[in-house]
Amino acid sequence: GVSYDLVIVANRLPVDRVENADGTRGWRTSPGGLVTAIEPVMRANHGVWIGWPGGTETDLEPFEHDGMSLAPMTMTPEEIEEFYEGFSNGTLWPLYHDVVGKPEYHREWWERYVSVNERFAEKAAGLAAKGATVWVHDYQLQLVPEMLRRIRPDLRIGFYLHIPFPPAELFQQLPWRRQLLEGLLGADLVGFQLPGGAQNFVRLVRQRVGHRTQSGTVFLPDGREVRAAAFPISIDAKGFEELARKPAVEKRVEAIRTALGNPKKIFLGVDRLDYTKGIYARLRAFAELMGEGHIDVEDAVFVQVAVPSREQVEQYRILRDDIDRLVGRINGDHGRIGRPAIHYLHNSYPREEMAAFYRLADVMVVTPYRDGMNLVAKEYVATRYEDDGALVLSEFAGAADELRQAWLVNPYDINGMKAALLEAYRADDRETTRRMRAMRRQVTQHDVVAWAEAFMTSLTDLDGDGPHST
Ligand code: UDP
Ligand code: G6P
Repeated sequence: GVSYDLVIVANRLPVDRVENADGTRGWRTSPGGLVTAIEPVMRANHGVWIGWPGGTETDLEPFEHDGMSLAPMTMTPEEIEEFYEGFSNGTLWPLYHDVVGKPEYHREWWERYVSVNERFAEKAAGLAAKGATVWVHDYQLQLVPEMLRRIRPDLRIGFYLHIPFPPAELFQQLPWRRQLLEGLLGADLVGFQLPGGAQNFVRLVRQRVGHRTQSGTVFLPDGREVRAAAFPISIDAKGFEELARKPAVEKRVEAIRTALGNPKKIFLGVDRLDYTKGIYARLRAFAELMGEGHIDVEDAVFVQVAVPSREQVEQYRILRDDIDRLVGRINGDHGRIGRPAIHYLHNSYPREEMAAFYRLADVMVVTPYRDGMNLVAKEYVATRYEDDGALVLSEFAGAADELRQAWLVNPYDINGMKAALLEAYRADDRETTRRMRAMRRQVTQHDVVAWAEAFMTSLTDLDGDGPHST
């Protein structure tokens, strides 16, 4: 069959299989930061992308979509339940996010994680050309590098973790900690969002597996070396700015503003409906400011976009109910006829509509308890081409390392968050411009293309034949 020099392996394809209203089937962009980041890389390199298209359809052949080669992985109901909802999102996701939710450990989930990782590795082995580069992504597939190397020692293998890699004290809880570390060590290069993640990993490898390490390098007994380093992910900053400048988007901004009743200021939150995102605490903080008379509903409203996510996982259902109730209560307490305090949208929107929301927002509120990066924060900055708008950002988002001029908050500290929201709300133009200008410089200079190039160059240079001469 056809083989490729670049193979991307991620749990999700960039598109989901969906059923249209008329019963026909089509494709829709899948949610989340991973897809946003890798899509431009794929387009530039003519590789193939292996991943799950959502659902349980079994007769999916490789196909071309929008200029990309996609190779769908099927998933049985048991695999979705035990591998995806179970081990990936009931064990690893909460554990790797500082146990913001409680991780559950089930041996059946682990076994299914192993067998699904094996299937991904076999699929990748079948599509990779001799000496090809395979780039494996995220926490759902941490065993793939080692499994793939066993089948295909000729490949160059990179792994990138999009979420935080936890400190040893938490990682230690995993009954299968050693297997996961060994899985990752199958790669030539293991990339993390932040230097802290790379350090946590190397320290664990030394302590738990017993390999010799020196700063970011692990020395394996067979002579192979594995590099661990940070590559903070980013966005297509230029593309987002161009989108934001489109007349159609500007028109949309005005239409939404009018529909909201022309409030003087608009607060905005955009998140997958996930308990790591701090949506509940942020809405409470806003409501308290209204209750105390600092913000009047005639002057300002809060728009919260909450993208449906992982709805079969219990902790996500509980969160949804909690937020539904809170929004109802806040609107009951502070809304007026024709003017709710919170406009709550449980829905997913295309990029163009996202750009309109960002352009509309005077205060963008991003308050996760823990987040690998948070692309929403960077996208907001990219669309503010007039250097206006205020960003309130959690210290616990990876993005806080780069966006130092945001109003940085500790989302566990409600009073601190209230103070920051109020400051951002009241800040004068000089202050917001000064901050936004600096943040825009950061985001434009470190975009997703630079991120992918840095990772790929690093992966290529490991051979010892030095950087490409140009
Ligand atoms: N997003 C979107 N439509 C929506 C809401 C979000 O396309 O209705 C996109 C958003 O633009 C961003 C990504 O989803 O690119 C979310 O990435 P982020 O890193 O902020 O969070 P994640 O979902 O990966 O945890
Ligand atoms: C985050 C993860 C991705 C994941 C995305 C959406 O960005 O890092 O791996 O694809 O969330 O979550 P989902 O479970 O719907 O794939």
